[in-house]
Amino acid sequence: MENYAMHINGNWVGEELDTLSVINPANNETVGTVPIGGEAEANKAIEAAHHAFGAWSKLTAYERSAYLERLHDLMLENQEELAQIMTLEMGKPIHESRGEVNYAASFIKWFAEEGKRIYGETIPAHVKGKRLQVWRKPVGVVAAITPWNFPAAMLTRKMGPALAAGCTVIMKPSSESPITAVKLMELCEEAGFPKGVVNLVTGSSSKIAKALMEDNRVRKITFTGSTEVGKILIRQSADQVKRLSLELGGHAPLIVLDDADIDTAVAGAIASKFRNAGQTCICANRVYVQSGVYEEFLEKFSKKVEKLTVGNGLDESVDIGPLINQAGLEKVTRHVDEAVAKGASVVTGGKSITDQGGVFYSPTVIGDVDPSMVIMQEETFGPVAPVQKVETEAEAIAFANDTPYGLAAYVFTESVARGMQVIEQLDYGIVGWNDGAPSAAQVPFGGMKESGIGREGGREGIEEFLESQYVSIGMK
Ligand code: SIN
Repeated sequence: MENYAMHINGNWVGEELDTLSVINPANNETVGTVPIGGEAEANKAIEAAHHAFGAWSKLTAYERSAYLERLHDLMLENQEELAQIMTLEMGKPIHESRGEVNYAASFIKWFAEEGKRIYGETIPAHVKGKRLQVWRKPVGVVAAITPWNFPAAMLTRKMGPALAAGCTVIMKPSSESPITAVKLMELCEEAGFPKGVVNLVTGSSSKIAKALMEDNRVRKITFTGSTEVGKILIRQSADQVKRLSLELGGHAPLIVLDDADIDTAVAGAIASKFRNAGQTCICANRVYVQSGVYEEFLEKFSKKVEKLTVGNGLDESVDIGPLINQAGLEKVTRHVDEAVAKGASVVTGGKSITDQGGVFYSPTVIGDVDPSMVIMQEETFGPVAPVQKVETEAEAIAFANDTPYGLAAYVFTESVARGMQVIEQLDYGIVGWNDGAPSAAQVPFGGMKESGIGREGGREGIEEFLESQYVSIGMK
């Protein structure tokens, strides 16, 4: 077991502080410790990032890109080490962790290139003797607050565009999975980023967030996490009108229409629902199947789900790792038990697994669900698929939209016209049409309604870290 440190202004620090233990949810063993930083450490990181901003923001986009390209290459060279750490600290199956390292590195690569395409504008003037231009500037010091479920990709999806735009960064990873961030920080150091450009603070989320929020040198907070915490950040940001990007909770509907290719729908539902044991913001959380294909879908889907293997993610054959912690397991259990008490039937699974020493839940399909059940209203964050029979397309759309969330939705139909008409009516930022895995670096990721503000990734991702400065130039 190793004791890791924080990284502020080019130095590894925090050895004198109390530590928090990072627990492997597959076996409850301690993976390592990180320092419990608070306001003092956050303030030092802000000072460092503020100081480094001047020189970093003045580099050419090509110079900044070269640092990011080096980081990208180092991430791929260290793929296995990063993947092993990720699986140890938060449980995801090792093949998914390797995939996440590639996914995380792809954001660094994309934004290394995208930073060279930050264009300003020249706008025709309304009078002679003026030139009207829009210049682009980095927002300043950025704090990236990230969750445990994608310990690498959620950081790089934020720091990639921030650094490419010319901002300096303070990373605050989740206390459940901070060691991946420590390793990423080591790679940033190896890539040669100047001191203070990337900083890492671990520890108390509330104390660190308070310092970040109260210091007006931090010009932007980019956060992935729950809608509840997102709302707190919105309130706290008001005093300084701090820029915010928020990628918050979801409650994704997956609609299977009666002309769907059922095998495609089943494969899509497995990919979407059971990735990361269902602990993904864009995981299908509610499945609506038209009555004509309900029985066929349920049978084929549950047969595939029964075959998913559960266990320690380090085992190469495992499909479903543990949940993140006991509270996660209790939530999943509560959702299933409440649905069953109200008349839902368990088609497969429906049990917690306690004999492996960790916090596991069996891959589960439940039928006969209805909208009154909590599982059809709240994000479960576990390997459970509730399937509801619907008669019409209109009914499916109405159920799908009947939620405060609007992150991701999935539609399965072979008809182009029908697919387009349904998707036009869905209030969701991301839609997978005959596709259960829509995420990629080059596309905008984010939600409507209470699922967030702003977009990450794609052309839009870098806009979140830029200001527009309009310049009116008088000429003789
Ligand atoms: C998330 O859970 O928010 C990230 C999922 C993804 O990037 O595909």
